[in-house]
Amino acid sequence: MKTFVNCCLLLHATSAIAGILQPRQNASYACNNSPELCSRSYSNITHLGAHNSPYLRSTQSSDNSISFTDAGNQNVNSTAQLAAGVRLLTAQVHNYNGAWHLCHSSCSLLDAGTLSSWLLEVRTWMDANPYDVVTILLVNADNASAAQLDAEFQAAGIKQYAYTPPSTASAIQTWPTLQEMISNSTRLVTFVASLPASSNTVAPYLLDQFTFVFENNYNVTDASGFSCEADRPPAVRGQTATVVSSGRLPFLNHFMYQSSGLGIFSPNTANIATTNAATGPGSLGQAANDCSNDYGKAPTFLLVDYFDQGSTVSVANSLNGITASTTGQVQPSTTPLSSTGAGARTVEPFRGWMGVLVVAGLVYEVTKILS
Ligand SMILES: *[C@@H]1O[C@H](CO)[C@@H](O)[C@H](O)[C@H]1NC(C)=O
Ligand SMILES: *[C@@H]1O[C@H](CO)[C@@H](O)[C@H](O)[C@H]1NC(C)=O
Ligand SMILES: *[C@@H]1O[C@H](CO)[C@@H](O)[C@H](O)[C@H]1NC(C)=O
Ligand SMILES: *[C@@H]1O[C@H](CO)[C@@H](O)[C@H](O)[C@H]1NC(C)=O
Ligand SMILES: *[C@@H]1O[C@H](CO)[C@@H](O)[C@H](O)[C@H]1NC(C)=O
Ligand SMILES: *[C@@H]1O[C@H](CO)[C@@H](O)[C@H](O)[C@H]1NC(C)=O
Repeated sequence: MKTFVNCCLLLHATSAIAGILQPRQNASYACNNSPELCSRSYSNITHLGAHNSPYLRSTQSSDNSISFTDAGNQNVNSTAQLAAGVRLLTAQVHNYNGAWHLCHSSCSLLDAGTLSSWLLEVRTWMDANPYDVVTILLVNADNASAAQLDAEFQAAGIKQYAYTPPSTASAIQTWPTLQEMISNSTRLVTFVASLPASSNTVAPYLLDQFTFVFENNYNVTDASGFSCEADRPPAVRGQTATVVSSGRLPFLNHFMYQSSGLGIFSPNTANIATTNAATGPGSLGQAANDCSNDYGKAPTFLLVDYFDQGSTVSVANSLNGITASTTGQVQPSTTPLSSTGAGARTVEPFRGWMGVLVVAGLVYEVTKILS
């Protein structure tokens, strides 16, 4: 990637002097991994998303042993996700003893550290990859104010990349191209669920998610439960055609939970190869095709658990009309979840489950609210 950076900074400077910044039909000058995406609008690209990006299934404990948690949604960290071609990262923001932490439903269940340290990880990757547009979606679990979130973005030094659209109070019909966002160095789109524009005068780049985006359902526990129908914001539930024409961008949740009883849900890892496959009943590829037909265009966002399993990157590439051979996407080497599942765990095997039990009541409440 370093050689790309050097080459392209040079290209960039030369073009700027010439007064034109044209995308090069050259794999060395790629926007979000492809030269063909440079001239396309942000809203006309399928951005592959890692659901609950910082919540990893295996974590390194202080004694250096690996422990596993059922509360994880991904195998590899956000840096490795971005390197592989993921361009949308989601996380939940919780107030933990007065600090803003990325916890999964509850901080006693899974605490991935502070928001600012995670944003620094994302910024570090963006610094090293200046031709990539990244989107973050923060679930505002404890109603952090715009000023409080803004302070975290400033602390991480990532605010410099923030994109602010012309209107922050209604859906915008014309998003810029990736090339325009890259040229302006405003390559970070940040959605917050929720943060009404009326309560946000200090940080207009923190966009209220459901002003700009609509989602299908996310609480799926059976392959037959996947749907393309608009589910959120609640005001547009079931009015899919209307919400598409309003200019809100389609955001497709495609992950499956399993119930562990007591109202506790965790990712259905046994079925992940099917859920994340390119074809077949219940697959990401089939859902994307079905929903493309319903919406009249491909979903702008695809959100998956364990993106490294199945064919998620190639499904997104195919919706974008690009092939992996030119992209520079670096897939992580991870083993199938089936071989790291419950039966194969040797270290602290029940830690995740115990954590779930301790906070069962609380998790039940928040699982109902949060995706
Ligand atoms: C792409 O650009 C790089 C850097 O300018 C150049 O070395 C390479 O030959 C170009 N490749 C093609 C296929 O034009
Ligand atoms: C981008 O536009 C093309 C041509 O209209 C369309 O086929 C494709 O589905 C669009 N993709 C997205 C993500 O909007
Ligand atoms: C992300 O994971 C990779 C591979 O395991 C590791 O080398 C890197 O240090 C991690 N980065 C961060 C910021 O945790
Ligand atoms: C969230 O915070 C805003 C101020 O930032 C306040 O107006 C609103 O009432 C709060 N909502 C809840 C549910 O606490
Ligand atoms: C890029 O920056 C210029 C100057 O600030 C501004 O007029 C233009 O709207 C920006 N373009 C985009 C796509 O943000
Ligand atoms: C998912 O949520 C909807 C309401 O948004 C509810 O009607 C449905 O029963 C829920 N499904 C599951 C499996 O919890």
